[in-house]
Amino acid sequence: MLKIGNLKLKSNLILAPMAGVSDLPFRLLNRRFGCELGFIEMINVRSLSYKMRKTKKMLSTGPEDKPLGIQIIGCEEEFILRAMDVLGSYEYDVLDFNAACPVKKVARRGEGAALLKDPKKLNKLLKLIVKTSSKPVTVKIRTGWDSSSINARDSALASQDAGASALFIHGRNREQGYSGEVDYGAIKDVKKALDIPVIGSGDVFSPELAKKMLDETGCDGLLLARGALGNPWIFEQIKAFLKNKKIIPRPGIDEIADIMIEHMDSYIDFYDALHGVMRFHKFFAWYTKGIPSVRPFREKAFRTRTKEGMLDIIGSFRKLTNV
Ligand SMILES: Cc1cc2nc3c(=O)[nH]c(=O)nc-3n(C[C@H](O)[C@H](O)[C@H](O)COP(=O)(O)O)c2cc1C
Repeated sequence: MLKIGNLKLKSNLILAPMAGVSDLPFRLLNRRFGCELGFIEMINVRSLSYKMRKTKKMLSTGPEDKPLGIQIIGCEEEFILRAMDVLGSYEYDVLDFNAACPVKKVARRGEGAALLKDPKKLNKLLKLIVKTSSKPVTVKIRTGWDSSSINARDSALASQDAGASALFIHGRNREQGYSGEVDYGAIKDVKKALDIPVIGSGDVFSPELAKKMLDETGCDGLLLARGALGNPWIFEQIKAFLKNKKIIPRPGIDEIADIMIEHMDSYIDFYDALHGVMRFHKFFAWYTKGIPSVRPFREKAFRTRTKEGMLDIIGSFRKLTNV
């Protein structure tokens, strides 16, 4: 269905790398609902080179966490080479290079979206990565640095020329961050210009928006990010809708509560009791988004530091009926 280098994917629904979110338990949960390829959050090549403990934890995976993508971010050749060396001892299937991160601190160092201003440099760094990688290399870009410098086509062609096996494109420029309209036209132009697969990202929040991305851009696959936060069901919903326009309704309160408990338990196992619950806080808000009368539960959830406390809140949430 979608081929990235020698990697054959069974579907074209991909879970995005998300900093502070895309850990092993999160990926496994989304895979159960139909996510095909999952990504670890971006890892800086310097942190990889120094083999930091936090980085090792980020790289945790397991037999069911396949196929798996790792995303690196950086701009110094020396550290890129050292990071590639470290990655040699890890199990994964695709290596993505981040030329999309809009964070100021990152861009100031010349990394992430800053590379959009210099497609030649992007090309040079990618050539180095492709040359030293045993796995297919992909790139993640945005439409450009700002609205006056939309150059996705140049960055995309520079990536393809360097040997990238696929391209992810978030249909916003760096200045937009995560808001404003997705530029479907820019993704379409990139798709037309390239021979390698192009995977669209941006506002894939529903089956209808998934279809819109595919129809308006002609892209080969979808990268889901915020749409999957507290909503692993989105993968099966999109799959069913694209297949035969079937609409799978949003799960009921009980099912959401069951998955929340499972999600929290997996975090407690993966981190520890305190950090598992703390990490779950934001997920409670995401799982309950759009549900009326949930605000008091949310405020309580953010103050809770124990599993028992969170189970109490989820228990009260279960009693809500007016969804
Ligand atoms: C919390 C969060 C963390 C993110 N971290 C990364 C990251 O580590 N690497 C990356 O390439 N993109 C990252 N992104 C961007 C997403 O991959 C995606 O391209 C963007 O959010 C647009 O998709 P969406 O509108 O479906 O959220 C992040 C997005 C969010 C919301």
